[in-house]
Amino acid sequence: MKSEAAGDMSAEEFRRYGHMVVDRIARYLEEVERSPVLSRAAPGEIRASLPKAAPRAGEGMHDILADFETKILPGITHWNHPGFMAYFAITGSGPGILGEMLTAGLNVNGMLWRGSPAATELEEVTLDWLRQLMGLPNPLFGEITDTASSSTLYALAAAREFAAINPPEIGTAVRPLRVYASSEAHSSVDKAVMTLGLGAAGIRHIPVDDSFRMRADLLAAAIAEDRAGGARPIAVVGTVGTTGTTAIDPIPEIADICERERLWLHVDASYAGVAAIVPEKRHVLAGVERAHSLVVNPHKWLFVPIDCSVLYTREPDALKAAFSLPLEILRTPEPGVTNLMDYGMSLGRRFRALKLWFVLRYFGEDGLAARLREHMRLAQIVARWAEQSAAFELCAPVEFSTVVFRYNLPGAEPEAANAANAKLLRLVNESGEVFLSGTKIRGVQVLRLTIGNLRTTEQHVLRALELLERTAEDI
Ligand SMILES: Cc1ncc(COP(=O)(O)O)c(C=O)c1O
Repeated sequence: MKSEAAGDMSAEEFRRYGHMVVDRIARYLEEVERSPVLSRAAPGEIRASLPKAAPRAGEGMHDILADFETKILPGITHWNHPGFMAYFAITGSGPGILGEMLTAGLNVNGMLWRGSPAATELEEVTLDWLRQLMGLPNPLFGEITDTASSSTLYALAAAREFAAINPPEIGTAVRPLRVYASSEAHSSVDKAVMTLGLGAAGIRHIPVDDSFRMRADLLAAAIAEDRAGGARPIAVVGTVGTTGTTAIDPIPEIADICERERLWLHVDASYAGVAAIVPEKRHVLAGVERAHSLVVNPHKWLFVPIDCSVLYTREPDALKAAFSLPLEILRTPEPGVTNLMDYGMSLGRRFRALKLWFVLRYFGEDGLAARLREHMRLAQIVARWAEQSAAFELCAPVEFSTVVFRYNLPGAEPEAANAANAKLLRLVNESGEVFLSGTKIRGVQVLRLTIGNLRTTEQHVLRALELLERTAEDI
């Protein structure tokens, strides 16, 4: 029973339940495949199973853990399941989980260097390692944020500073600011523009070519048109690995335009950037060395438990200008140190570098490259299957570990074909064995199968294809 007196759980109790929790996590990872990958909980079911208010008296860990088993786990969609092939699949790897546990134990706040010198300096070191692994130029300032959405928001805030805009002008009709991204760019770019107060017209979506890559000629034309119309272009966001089809925008051509027009170039490589760790894939980041900022997410496809996004910039002063305030209470005497609170919106920051360090050291460059390469090999198996199958068709080039395809219904009306593909997706996901996602590309319903979990093997992928074929036949 928990004591009513002041103070924390005793070390002895912590040790006892800590061992139990570690054992539980290990068993979870071993057995995760036995659970349906997509939770079968009905909306509101989990909430209804829980008390409406917190307990008055403390409860024992035994009871809390028992409720975790019976009330929480049924409402879990298993992102660590080898059949999780939806959105961008991720892995909470063993070393990453262990790093995360130590981060919780230390519970440091890395807002200032003195808040824990190791938190700041390990972040600097791991991000320099990652920079080298990806073949990025030196020097490059890096910081860890929670998500790519925050990283892109920060990058565009820096871009605005870089353009030396007077804040009172922002959002007015006098000189509306403008950011450019392809029509396939992630919605986080739109959200960043909204958050920065640039208004709905603050973002202009540039059409893409047949391979879903931004049309650089149309970007140049849009910038010229906006300047002629009195708007002020400030930044372009290029994507390496778009969400829908993992297309790569023509970054070198976009960089040419940005240099000519003196615009900030931000590259969103949050999913695919880490592919550059694989030597034969280095080319996917061609031109990125000319970007002012770049986001990559180790929590997407580098086996680091969520959350861990990395923002790199070669203009840290612009980033600092966007977020730094002289605050007396936070003034520190140490010379020459980086206080990471000066480079983003939040003051407090988790010690996320620890889990990234664990992952980089445990797998090493060769181990990471081998795993990423294997995921891309598995994706090629799916791509060949879709190309060769009479019933399915491949809908986009496959550069990374994501395959976009659809069930082919020759002669069917577009709406009927879309409905059939949506039904196929629903039925396959109901199997509990796999979880795929769908999206619409130019109005056409497609399915996406993405590999990013370290537990996913060729056998799992072949089983997914078998399920797709069998379910399609039934439809
Ligand atoms: C290309 C791209 N950019 C940004 C994001 C947003 O990532 P986050 O969830 O880390 O904000 C995603 C999410 O899938 C994405 O695919």
